Amino acid sequence: MKPELQRRVQRYGWDKAALYYESAWKQQLKPAHDRMLELANLQRGEKVLETACGTGLVVFRAAPPVAPDGEVMGTDISDTMVQTATETAKQLDIRNVRFKQMDAEQLKFEDATFDAALSGLGLMYMPDPVRALQEKYRVLKPGGRVAVAIWGERKKCGWSEIFPIVDKRVASDVCPMFFQQGTGNTLNMSLEQAGFANITTERFDTTLRFDSDEHIITAAFSGGPVALAYDKFDEQTKEEAHAEYLESVAAYRNGSAYDIPGEFVVAVGYKQ
Ligand SMILES: C[S@@+](CC[C@H](N)C(=O)[O-])C[C@H]1O[C@@H](n2cnc3c(N)ncnc32)[C@H](O)[C@@H]1O
Repeated sequence: MKPELQRRVQRYGWDKAALYYESAWKQQLKPAHDRMLELANLQRGEKVLETACGTGLVVFRAAPPVAPDGEVMGTDISDTMVQTATETAKQLDIRNVRFKQMDAEQLKFEDATFDAALSGLGLMYMPDPVRALQEKYRVLKPGGRVAVAIWGERKKCGWSEIFPIVDKRVASDVCPMFFQQGTGNTLNMSLEQAGFANITTERFDTTLRFDSDEHIITAAFSGGPVALAYDKFDEQTKEEAHAEYLESVAAYRNGSAYDIPGEFVVAVGYKQ
């Protein structure tokens, strides 16, 4: 898939997914967010960036440790995600956060602006993840750190059949390199390539709990990266795709719920 097309699929797909994202994924992603934020070790007064911030799940957690004089900037390629996060900040009256629409591979910030740069479950969607890391490197101050979380190996993610199931119905690769950075030592090498030093990478197993068929279907089809392709399906195609997906996760059924295995990779690295 051409990089420009991938960016458009992401941008307009996540516009559609924004409404479903938190109810479908907040709890499931929490262990990755927890560990990434621990590794980032944010301090009062710091200026923090999160790229691919979505609805702001990470940004809103990063805001209290840097308050009151520090602030968190969240950027995302999807306008609807940025609007949703901005609205939430207003509703919750959180004043030290801001959100802007921006491609993570082309950050519109000066060099050496931030103390820490985060990215929760975002790097898998970038056409050029190394470039996205290089951009974080550029906007970090010397001594600043990057902390990222991504999905791990494909074979350890029990929900991964969603990609071929959607792909074969739209005849395009909806997320070509999704598991690339989470495989083997790739993330570590990408961070090194981007210039980071003193890198620590960890991978850990997780279990994703989905309460019902409806929850797991919403999470997979409407609340994530295949939302744009899925939106084009007619009703019959949707039903066939749902049935095939439920079949692919049937081994993980637990009563009316599902406990799906997954793997996260988290890393921290420093700009010297
Ligand atoms: C799974 S969500 C992660 C949201 C948030 N970081 C979290 O951990 O909850 C992935 C986000 O990546 C964004 N995204 C995809 N490609 C992007 C790009 N090239 N630049 C910036 N954001 C991008 C999507 O719009 C989406 O909001």
